[in-house]
Amino acid sequence: MTIQDGVPALDPGSPGGTARPWLRLDLAPGQRVEALLAQMTLAEKVGQTHQVANVDPVADRELLRSAGIGSSVLASGATAGNERDAGLRVCVIDTAQRIAVEESRLGIPLLFARDVIHGHRTVFPIPLGLAAAWDEDLVRRTAALAAAEARLDAVAWTFAPMLDISQEPRWGRVAESLGEAPVLAGRLGAAMVRGFQGDVLGGAGTLAACAKHFVGYGLVDGGRDYETVQVGENTLRNLHLRPFRDAVRAGCATVMAAFTDVDGVPMHAHARLLREVLKGEWGFDGVVVADWDGVGQLVSQGVAADLRDAAAQAITAGVDIDMVSGAYSAHLGELVETGRVPLDLLDDAVRRIIRLKIRQGLFEHPYVALPCAPTTAGTSAATAPGSAVEASVPPAPLPPAARALAREAAAASFVLLSNGRTHDVGTLPLAANPGRVLLTGPFVHEGEALFGTWTLDGRGEDIASPAAAIRDRLGDGAVVDDGRFSDRTLHLVRQADITVALVGEHPSRSGEANSVADIGLPAGQLEVLRAIAAFGKPLVVVVFTGRPLDLGEVLGLADSVLIAWHPGVEAGPALVETLFGDRSPGGRLPMTFPRSVGHLPSSSLARPTGRPIDPASDPSAGRYLDALVVPRLPFGSGLTYTTFDYGPLRLSAHQMPRHGGSIEVSVEVTNSGDRPGREVVQLYLRDLVADVTRPLLELADWVSLVLDPGATGTATFTVTPEQLSYYDRTMALRIDPGEAVVTVGPDASRGATARITVTG
Ligand code: NOJ
Repeated sequence: MTIQDGVPALDPGSPGGTARPWLRLDLAPGQRVEALLAQMTLAEKVGQTHQVANVDPVADRELLRSAGIGSSVLASGATAGNERDAGLRVCVIDTAQRIAVEESRLGIPLLFARDVIHGHRTVFPIPLGLAAAWDEDLVRRTAALAAAEARLDAVAWTFAPMLDISQEPRWGRVAESLGEAPVLAGRLGAAMVRGFQGDVLGGAGTLAACAKHFVGYGLVDGGRDYETVQVGENTLRNLHLRPFRDAVRAGCATVMAAFTDVDGVPMHAHARLLREVLKGEWGFDGVVVADWDGVGQLVSQGVAADLRDAAAQAITAGVDIDMVSGAYSAHLGELVETGRVPLDLLDDAVRRIIRLKIRQGLFEHPYVALPCAPTTAGTSAATAPGSAVEASVPPAPLPPAARALAREAAAASFVLLSNGRTHDVGTLPLAANPGRVLLTGPFVHEGEALFGTWTLDGRGEDIASPAAAIRDRLGDGAVVDDGRFSDRTLHLVRQADITVALVGEHPSRSGEANSVADIGLPAGQLEVLRAIAAFGKPLVVVVFTGRPLDLGEVLGLADSVLIAWHPGVEAGPALVETLFGDRSPGGRLPMTFPRSVGHLPSSSLARPTGRPIDPASDPSAGRYLDALVVPRLPFGSGLTYTTFDYGPLRLSAHQMPRHGGSIEVSVEVTNSGDRPGREVVQLYLRDLVADVTRPLLELADWVSLVLDPGATGTATFTVTPEQLSYYDRTMALRIDPGEAVVTVGPDASRGATARITVTG
């Protein structure tokens, strides 16, 4: 390498006779990475680790030319999921990219990241709603469509899936999660990764995925966002790390560190979990990105004296990219020069970042659009006024196939909690000519509010309100209230034959930084439901929510209760089609619904104690004098418009060798109602004697059966020793010989059981 004016000149004699061998597609990716790394200065290496918010081709021009920026998060601010966003400016993004690629010495492209969480322009149900569908293929297809749309808007990297095990409904971020069970979150998370990344990362219309937040964020004290976390490594391994392991196995390109500490050690400085477990034990060769200012926050967390110290701790722990704090950009060079941070650590981070850019095909396809007019090239890449005009694709109107998928996903996410309190047959579905239907409640005329948290690129004009959808269906037969529960509402109820009340939480009550101390319905809604129910006419309550709520009294007041989450761009039509039975509610609860805040934590993953509870004889067994301890609605539960009968459990054997053995467990399920329907048959396991306390019941698998009336199907599970494996007191993975209990049923509270033995 030669030096000119202090900057190394490119080596013309490098492999292949080209000055830029890292562009050669005939070389293996690893060779391309090393060829580039060999040419980089210390400053250029540090630049790759520096992520800015909303790169600005004018203000950041010199920094881009000197390769001082490696990536950019496109977001309106630190808690972008709560805000409306003015959209992406593709031509501005491309302009920044052109400077990086064409005006910097080595021409390394930038990586543009955005939170594409549950759809891009086509908004799907919030992740907790998608999880309620218990359908990996559906999740994969929604992620694939989101990736294709976002890639056309110049996004190359999304910060999803969120895999925080979520057992705490006060925490607003459960809306972004895939629920409380490691197997459900892990499988759906892996499906989401496959949807975003396609078969091969870098294929047309793919995004790099990001498993977040590594790890334990779902355990924030009191459900208060950003709080501290108390958890030991064994519980982390047996519960919270598992979906991340699944995502890494599925090839997830990146992982994001959590804001929190874990038992005193902030995750952005957690070398044991990031460097030893994730990168070492699991062999993760992708990129670890900080969360927003997470490196800088080591100072507020009181473990770093200043930003320099924070940078040293984070890079040492294994955080490869510093999101917006600026700590790496300001200090890493000097930290390496003075020997506080070994160059090897920085090289390891840069290798990972370059490898991702190569895999993502950015060196070959750095741009999305044609060069844009100079007048529009200034200012930042996202959230600037006028951006909606420039957002390039997909063009209005939303393609029918995208709408169809959004409608399918919304209906599949709906969970029917009760149906027909005062009637022999369920109140739902409504008859084709149901008489006068009143639609009332605060969500009747809502559009964008039904998108849910983290909807940066959905457009208000794409969504029809529930009011519009029901008028489409019933014309004058629908009476639509003004959306403000009032005396008028009660007057309309008096005249109606059936009332459908749309209640619940506005999305601004869930998501990041939106925790609540009270998980009841928002103020005033219950009082109106009481007044409506007093008329004694059929009452259907639809609950929009980003979290499990305490619905005890609502279940008593209403004939039918349907959880609709925040369903996305097809909210109105999906809801009306479901109310009238064109579609059946397909969802099952991905989180336990507790009785009250006083009952928390309340999940399906309780472990045995020295003094077990026998719900039959002693439902509380000294736990609460004033309340039952069983949840209001168990994990996995949900009704549909038909019913199912379960036959006896059949096992192919009662013993399985610890190495290589398996047992087939099957059950026949008959549709005993008069409509077609989908049943989610669930397999739970319990290891009876283990080295550490193991869950009394843990979801191990599920099978969906779609059955016509009178038809019988068989749900078959293959139980393997691996499903009973766990980390022991020494953090070693093991499978115990001995007895285990197999349970198969429709939810976590019911089912047929059998004992099996692991031998050898
Ligand atoms: C902070 C959030 O915790 C994280 O989930 C998100 O991806 C980043 N901000 C970027 O917007």
